[in-house]
Amino acid sequence: MEQVPRHLFVPAVYEQDGTGQWSEITGATPGYLEHVYADRALTTQVKEGEPTSSSSEPGLMLTMLDALGVQPGQRVLEIGTGTGYNAALLSHVLGDSNVTTVDVDPELTTDAARRLREAGYRPTVHTGDGAVGLSTRPLFDRIIATCQMQSIPPAWLRQATNGAVMVVPIGWGLARLTVEDGQGVGQFLPQSAYFMARRTPRVRPRFDELATEQATSTNLPAQEILTRLEFPLALALPGYRTCTWGGDAGGATAVGIWTPDGATATVSWDGSVRQIGPRKLWDTVEELSEQFDDAPRREDFGLTITPERQRSWWKNEETGWDLPAVHFTE
Ligand SMILES: C[S@@+](CC[C@H](N)C(=O)[O-])C[C@H]1O[C@@H](n2cnc3c(N)ncnc32)[C@H](O)[C@@H]1O
Repeated sequence: MEQVPRHLFVPAVYEQDGTGQWSEITGATPGYLEHVYADRALTTQVKEGEPTSSSSEPGLMLTMLDALGVQPGQRVLEIGTGTGYNAALLSHVLGDSNVTTVDVDPELTTDAARRLREAGYRPTVHTGDGAVGLSTRPLFDRIIATCQMQSIPPAWLRQATNGAVMVVPIGWGLARLTVEDGQGVGQFLPQSAYFMARRTPRVRPRFDELATEQATSTNLPAQEILTRLEFPLALALPGYRTCTWGGDAGGATAVGIWTPDGATATVSWDGSVRQIGPRKLWDTVEELSEQFDDAPRREDFGLTITPERQRSWWKNEETGWDLPAVHFTE
């Protein structure tokens, strides 16, 4: 990091103010260098008002690279090129020919490849859905994803050497897996990690339909979704999203939660619950609440990935949840 200048990869970053407006910070903006050399994530692309790419927090990048443990001569696949900064760090250590990076957005890969060249690096930059990986030979010794996944794409297992290490944001944490005999097993790191989700078609919550549903009541505080149970919830309900509604006094009064299969629930601070769709999301929250007395530690969770089945677990493989067999097209 001392030798690869971050500012070359983030010529423009975007900041959102309290009203939701984005403003651009460039080299011409006073304080730009202090901004890009702070230990913070920088939004580098905004589409339709939503952030779609960023340069991750450098401290978190180091944690991930540390967990990846690359050794000279190893081949690495990075999913989520973004600015190209992480690919530059990898190329600096491993050499250009050992680094392949892929992003789904052609604008990003074009800019990243140019900036990498300008900084003196020429890794392979590929445009496409990183979930299908890259079936090149030789296989990859290390796979690092820098966008949030709901499960490990089966292609990655096939494209990894025996003994390969994968570091992948799953839910709100970082899973570190080792591949042995076609299976991946490992645990979560203690650090939290809130990565941008892998880009997939957006699912809308069904709040309109819910409004006419009969409410039930709960004694469990709605905010548990956002706090104590947030981490296990991301494993039990992969791809879930939430929103909150505020009252006139400014504080939140209700939480909404939905999953990619269309299930939607709302819970108000007064304890009324409405649920709709193929599964009852608040019931899952209540089950998790009974399972965990306290906020569970990330490092007590793990993942076991085989070509047939993917499972996340808590403390041992008996207690866990199946991850979705996501429809990756190859
Ligand atoms: C946090 S940014 C990556 C940061 C990057 N590693 C860097 O050093 O700047 C996440 C990136 O994942 C990319 N992404 C999202 N879905 C993807 C997919 N299906 N395949 C490959 N890349 C994807 C986004 O376009 C975005 O650039």
